[in-house]
Amino acid sequence: MIVAVGCDHNGLTIKDAVRRELEARGITVRDLTPPLPANGVDYPDVAADVARAVAAGDADRGVLVCGTGQGMSIAANKVPGIRAAVCSEPYSARMSREDNDANVLCMGGRTIGLGAALEILNVWLNVTPSSEDRHVRRRGKIATLEEHRP
Ligand code: RB5
Repeated sequence: MIVAVGCDHNGLTIKDAVRRELEARGITVRDLTPPLPANGVDYPDVAADVARAVAAGDADRGVLVCGTGQGMSIAANKVPGIRAAVCSEPYSARMSREDNDANVLCMGGRTIGLGAALEILNVWLNVTPSSEDRHVRRRGKIATLEEHRP
């Protein structure tokens, strides 16, 4: 598996821990984090790079970290094919995979600690999407929304 990761200035500690954890598991990591100058970087730029890598098939999944995870998620979800989920606890991480087939995990460097982030990551990596009809149908409706953008 290849996982693209990226963060802004508020997500560096968690992003680095995620990267180390992925590498320790033998997962190939593409770190698309740009240089982080003192005045910070714009999270939509990082989200776009990671989301496009996943959408293009250059990475199987993505992990994005900013202050809250929200801005990264909002931006990443603008890229067709991306289902980015903000997760702050393991239950949401599980359901984002099982029900929503989330392909990008977003977390907040200012909202959760390192231990929680790694637990969320562990769940998110290991849960496979449900193949139950209702979930497949609902995901299909999300894809249809993308096809009919005004
Ligand atoms: C940057 O100040 C901050 O807005 C960002 O890290 C993130 O929290 C956005 O959602």
